[in-house]
Amino acid sequence: MKIAPSILSCDFARLADEVQAVESGGADWIHVDVMDGHFVPNITIGPLITAGVRRSTDLPVDVHLMIEEPDRYLEAFVLAGADWVTVHAEACVHLHRTIEEIRRLGAKPGVAINPATPLAAISDILPYVDLVLVMSVNPGFGGQSYIPTSTAKMVRARALLDNLGSDAELQVDGGVGSGNAAEVQAAGASVLVAGSAVYGHAEGAAGGVRSIREALSQGVATSQGEG
Ligand code: DX5
Ligand code: ZN
Repeated sequence: MKIAPSILSCDFARLADEVQAVESGGADWIHVDVMDGHFVPNITIGPLITAGVRRSTDLPVDVHLMIEEPDRYLEAFVLAGADWVTVHAEACVHLHRTIEEIRRLGAKPGVAINPATPLAAISDILPYVDLVLVMSVNPGFGGQSYIPTSTAKMVRARALLDNLGSDAELQVDGGVGSGNAAEVQAAGASVLVAGSAVYGHAEGAAGGVRSIREALSQGVATSQGEG
C-alpha cells in the first residue's frame, strides 16, 4: 500500500518543509488537491504551487483535479511536474479524449468518481487509465468523515480491475487515517490519501505517516473499532 499525504492540510508558509516531513516519515507520493470554486466550492492550488511541490521532493507528484473543463489545464500541470494527473468523470464530457491527452503529455492518467457516482460511469474507461480514485468524501474540503459505503464500492472496483487484468492503482481519498487504513487496504485499495490525519497528527506529519503505516501492518483484525 502506498501512502500519499495530501498537502491540503499542511502549513503553506512552510511548504517545502511540510513536503520533506512526510517524505522523512515514509510517504510514497505527494497528493496535490486542485480546486476551482466551480466543480467544488473551495479554491486551492494551481500549477505554481504544484511546481513548488515538485522542487521540494523527488517523490511522485499526484495531482487530483477537482475542476471543470480540466482539458484547459492539463499541460500546465504536467509542465509543473505532475507525474500523475487524475480528472473527475463528472467533469469530463469526452473522458476518453482527456485521459489520452494526459498520457500524450507524458503523465499517468487517473479517473476519479464522487461518492454518489456509480462505478458503471467509468467501466468503459477502465482499460485506459493507470489509476482509479474512489472518493470517500464529497470533494471540496479536508477533514471530513469517511463515507462508510465507500468500502464496498472499493471492493467492487477492485473486482472490476482484476477481471480486466488491469494493474491500475486503486486510490481512496477522504476521511482516511490510522483508524480505517487497514479497512481500505483489505477492500483492495493500493494508494491511500490522507490529509488531516497526517498534517494534524499530534507527533507531526512524519509521525502521522508512520502511524498509518503501523496501522496497515497490524491489519484489519486489530485496528477495527479504533475509529
Ligand atoms: C477532498 C480532497 C482530499 C482531502 C483529504 O476534497 O480530495 O484529498 O483533502 O483530506 P482528509 O484526509 O483530511 O479527508
Ligand atoms: Zn484529493
